[in-house]
Amino acid sequence: MAISTSHSYRTPTSFFRCCVSSTTHPRIPFKIEKFQSGSSAIKPASISFVKNTELAQVEVKENKWKELQRPDSFGRFGKFGGKFVPETLIYALTELESAFRSLAGDEEFQKEVDGILRDFVGRESPLYFAERLTEHYKRPDGEGPHIYLKREDLNHTGSHNINNAVAQALLAKRLGKKRIIAETGAGQHGVATATVCARFGLQCVIYMGAQDMERQTFNVIKMKLLGAEVRPVHSGTSALKDAISDAIRDSVANVESTHYILGSVAGPHPYPMMVRDFNAVIGKETRRQAIEKWGGKPDVLVACVGGGSNAMGLFHEFFDDADVRLIGVEAAGFGLDSGKHAATLTKGEVGVLHGAMSYLLQDDDGQIVEPYSLSAGLDYPGVGPEHSFLKDIGRAEYYSSTDEEALEAFKRLSRLEGIIPALETSHALAYLEKLCPMLSNGTKVVVNCSGRGDKDLQMAIKHLEV
Ligand SMILES: Cc1ncc(COP(=O)(O)O)c(C=O)c1O
Repeated sequence: MAISTSHSYRTPTSFFRCCVSSTTHPRIPFKIEKFQSGSSAIKPASISFVKNTELAQVEVKENKWKELQRPDSFGRFGKFGGKFVPETLIYALTELESAFRSLAGDEEFQKEVDGILRDFVGRESPLYFAERLTEHYKRPDGEGPHIYLKREDLNHTGSHNINNAVAQALLAKRLGKKRIIAETGAGQHGVATATVCARFGLQCVIYMGAQDMERQTFNVIKMKLLGAEVRPVHSGTSALKDAISDAIRDSVANVESTHYILGSVAGPHPYPMMVRDFNAVIGKETRRQAIEKWGGKPDVLVACVGGGSNAMGLFHEFFDDADVRLIGVEAAGFGLDSGKHAATLTKGEVGVLHGAMSYLLQDDDGQIVEPYSLSAGLDYPGVGPEHSFLKDIGRAEYYSSTDEEALEAFKRLSRLEGIIPALETSHALAYLEKLCPMLSNGTKVVVNCSGRGDKDLQMAIKHLEV
């Protein structure tokens, strides 16, 4: 793909506020209006937008979504995604994309990734029939759906995050980068990154909100033990958004030596595509395991959505199977009307954050509204652009669970199945309470058990009577 780096472009303030150091780039004093679909409020900001404004207005016609390339050659999913970044990053992102594309077809690289996923991570992860949970959702007449859990919690380091961290670390090595940075919310992506850096002998710096460091102390200790430097971030709400902003600033300043292992399907192109593809192993295994177990496909897939990587990892394989329902569950915090939640797809509006266009929690001036969730990994005001696309075309459904509902689900799975799930995962499990009564007998539901809950025990003890 020919990508020119010479176009000038206007960058929205939300990007500068969140991503660019004021020491290297003066902050832009003007105010930008919130993006409205079809408006000219945000002018083309990525090189691709500049070249083809028509594409920025892509409208997906009914039933045409299957034919769309996701992402297109400009890194967009319909109107979402793109590359809203300063020029200093364009070269690094272009280099990353071309390395990713060439390694995707490189058998040696694939073999190396698969070998590490098998012997170091412990893949494949089981597709587990949750017998007592299934019993719990049986109606008085004995009918109800069958619940299965995709056990990403059994991976080395305890979550799906390791899939992407392994592959990106190997990619960084191929690019000759010896310094790795990453952001983390719940600490799981930080631990996964610190782990692969230890495994491959790479220097590792993890940005983590100071508030998240307090609520995820075990993971901070793990990262340090693994040899990573954990840098506390005190700006904003000292949470995931702020950690991503600082990591992007670092990558702008150290573009030559450093690879940024972004942990979700967010950020500028090619990250949403790359992180999705590195997690797509979850859905591929699920398809194969479903055939083995019941000789068919799942009927419903359920996953929690923060940035959206575990959900996209499960959904991607089934995108074209229109008979498979895709359900993402966001964090409703204290409730959708409380103003204290992280339900971006449910309550957000279109804007630009961290280099991509997507749904965001923002106020009337286009300024980010700070999100809230008990669960650090879901506490993000944006969401991966492909989820915004799936929502708009109606391919996936998005709902939300409150803190209280998630804590109940956390306890329920622990007691019924002997599996302590991550608080993030518990949001997806909580939605079963609403979903299951509506499903017909024998419906096969797969919930992505994205992580284990050891990291959340301190938090859970505070809130649950155990
Ligand atoms: C176990 C677990 N599940 C889910 C998430 C949410 O992230 P994503 O939506 O990218 O899967 C996180 C984030 O760190 C996590 O640790």
